Amino acid sequence: MTRFGHFDDQAREYVISQPDTPLPWINYLGSEDYFGIISNTAGGYSFYRDARLRRLTRYRYNNAPLDVGGRYLYLRDRANGEVWSPSWQPVGGELADYRCRHGLGYTVIGGRRAGIEAETLYVVPLGETLEIWRTRVTNHRSTPAELSLFSAVEFCLWDAWDDATNFQRNYSIGEVEVEDGVIYHKTEYRERRNHFAYFACSAELAGFDTRRDAFLGPHRGWDRPLAVESGRSGDSIAHGWAPCGSHHVELALRPGETREVVFVLGYAENPVEAKFDPPGSQTIDKRLVRPVIDRYRRTDEVDAAVRRLRHYWDGLLDTLHVTTPSEHVDRMVNTWNAYQCMVTFNLSRSASLFESGIGRGMGFRDSTQDLLGFVHMVPERARARILDVAATQFPTGGAYHQYQPLTKTGNDAIGSGFNDDPLWLVLAVAAYVKETGDVDILDERVPYDNEPGSESPLDDHLRRSLRYTLDRLGPHGLPLIGRADWNDCLNLNCFSETPGESFQTTENREGGVAESVFIGGLFTLASGELAALADRRGRHDEAESWRDAGREMAAAVRAHGWDGAWFRRAYDYAGEVIGSAENEEGRIFVEPQGMCVLAGIGLDDGRAEVALSSVAAHLATPHGIVLQQPAYGRYHVELGEISSYPPGYKENAGIFCHTNPWIIIAETLVGNGDRALDYHLRINPSAREEISDQHRCEPYVYAQMIAGKDAPTHGEAKNSWLTGTAAWSLVAVSQWILGIRPDHDGLRVDPCLPADWEGFTAGRRFRGADYRITVRAPRGTQGRVSHLLVDGRRVEGNLIPPAPQGATVTVDAVIDGSP
Ligand code: BGC
Ligand code: NOJ
Repeated sequence: MTRFGHFDDQAREYVISQPDTPLPWINYLGSEDYFGIISNTAGGYSFYRDARLRRLTRYRYNNAPLDVGGRYLYLRDRANGEVWSPSWQPVGGELADYRCRHGLGYTVIGGRRAGIEAETLYVVPLGETLEIWRTRVTNHRSTPAELSLFSAVEFCLWDAWDDATNFQRNYSIGEVEVEDGVIYHKTEYRERRNHFAYFACSAELAGFDTRRDAFLGPHRGWDRPLAVESGRSGDSIAHGWAPCGSHHVELALRPGETREVVFVLGYAENPVEAKFDPPGSQTIDKRLVRPVIDRYRRTDEVDAAVRRLRHYWDGLLDTLHVTTPSEHVDRMVNTWNAYQCMVTFNLSRSASLFESGIGRGMGFRDSTQDLLGFVHMVPERARARILDVAATQFPTGGAYHQYQPLTKTGNDAIGSGFNDDPLWLVLAVAAYVKETGDVDILDERVPYDNEPGSESPLDDHLRRSLRYTLDRLGPHGLPLIGRADWNDCLNLNCFSETPGESFQTTENREGGVAESVFIGGLFTLASGELAALADRRGRHDEAESWRDAGREMAAAVRAHGWDGAWFRRAYDYAGEVIGSAENEEGRIFVEPQGMCVLAGIGLDDGRAEVALSSVAAHLATPHGIVLQQPAYGRYHVELGEISSYPPGYKENAGIFCHTNPWIIIAETLVGNGDRALDYHLRINPSAREEISDQHRCEPYVYAQMIAGKDAPTHGEAKNSWLTGTAAWSLVAVSQWILGIRPDHDGLRVDPCLPADWEGFTAGRRFRGADYRITVRAPRGTQGRVSHLLVDGRRVEGNLIPPAPQGATVTVDAVIDGSP
């Protein structure tokens, strides 16, 4: 069992000390408009706002080796022609003292060869649309060193999809300018674009290249560029083909001397009417961009940018901080899980090593669930996100399954009819209001389908979300599933026989009665949340009617969704049961066990415990809880994509990590803290660090999926970073195991701890006050908190009364109650 690095908890960094990680282990640069992914060997790409439409640099997905295209640097020793990359790739070969420190919004990669140390910081300053590479080169030899430093990026011709396919046009349109050593990429600037990219360097240049074939040489790749090998740039100007950017800097270093060179890669826009200088020419007007470039070529500005970024992340992460007996819990809650939640906020499902940046828009259910994980860090931005998402809802209460981040309008190509979608909006708004107390958001007027004139208060949207379910009930009184529910691949109305057809968008067969027990649970949960919101606005009759609707749904779930030892999953098109002991395959599914118990179904009659025991018996594995058992061994046309995957992968009995926190929360609801933490640690990436060669993905972020027990590669993770697992894991651990949970009337301290924990401490900023919480648990008990000492005063129950803005409140809680 191998580890490839370690956590530096103090610095909030993961330090990789071996470059040949099982997969590229990536990080994200950027927090606002300009983003990039960067691997531990400097692979990756950058984009402005939209990973498909404004891609700055080229990346080749699914290449061999996997990670091709990046922010490359090369060093050449002029004495003997030796060439290497201080980030190991793309040259490879020997590199001593390699390290990659992935931090919050920045990455540092370096190493040493032949007595020359080189380390590069990659960072995007807050408020800017550019990235900095600051390279420090030190000569540790006892003799002077004569070196050449080369930079290299390959430009993407903006639309990454078109860039990868439309060669008959694209090989003719590439254009650049080089002025004062700055390389400008301006493809299509002559016509409808008013944006361009630039690549600048702080040092005087010995040369440059902008033609990929000139830089690399014919028949060569990024591992052996001819310009680097020969030590001579071609000063080439690209006309069509593949524009790139490469600077060549000569460094003469005395023994012990360090030189810093700063590269700036950025995106800039000019006003449409002032694109050219002189007007009428085809030359970019550089008056707006030059000062920005000049500023960030200065190393003091780089240092200041790093300080601002650290301060920004400290501010976000200070919202919640815990010290528990588990280092894995601490470092995920305090740093990496919170960070991952911000990345899902920024990137949704667009750009990672597994998401190509050209695929999906923002998912309605993804965005609303992601919000649960970042609302406490960026409440104002969460508010704006809620209003954006709600504006893509249809007047029926239904929702576009996805919307486009640039236009914020619904995505017609995918359409709607995923019948769980609208309900997640209710959970998101409830979480936002509990966090902030801003119940006025319910009065915000939001259009339907972005149609001007259709504006109505947000709470009307929420009511329509619930009505959407009630208007679509099947023969058992359970919600019709539509195209799919949370499980995109349970396509009960699809019946696809045509290879390659999309299971999600193919026309559904009419006339079926496919129902989802999962949506039944989700509706029950959401109706309780909407009732609580209605109560807060004094609408008690409305609240009562939502509670009635929830009770009725729960009754339908109990009557037709209970299989004897677990909750059923669904009824298919023909009304046949799915997820039942009657089935041969797919007898038990995880989703309804989690969601129904979360909704409170089965808590009063013992079914919750029975269902959770069934999960433990049939679905739990050492690597997490699988989605269903037995896996589907063949394709079932009546079930759809779920049965398309080989057994053990993805939705066919993979460990779809997103669902595991639901079970963890459910375990806390039945008072089983031991099992809750145990399940958590099975998927906690830090706890899996020791088995990195089996897990293979980054040990600092959750992956969407870990191969299930039916898979030959059981325990191998895929699809790291952009997954709903991030938000739900943070919620499950911080709000349910540790029990620090925002509620409408204040902050709750309601932990459900494992028996061998003696307590923990936490800091939580909540509605402008700081709470310092200490929980003490007598060893060997699994009880609950019955009262609190708030600034020394006894308060019955577990709710801290709200404190004034700016207050610091000390809270002591002792676990003394019954489970
Ligand atoms: C994937 C799902 C995904 C769906 C919609 C499927 O191929 O397996 O995880 O949700 O596509 O994009
Ligand atoms: C990934 C999708 O982004 C998410 O919306 C869905 O719930 C899961 N896959 C399960 O299918």
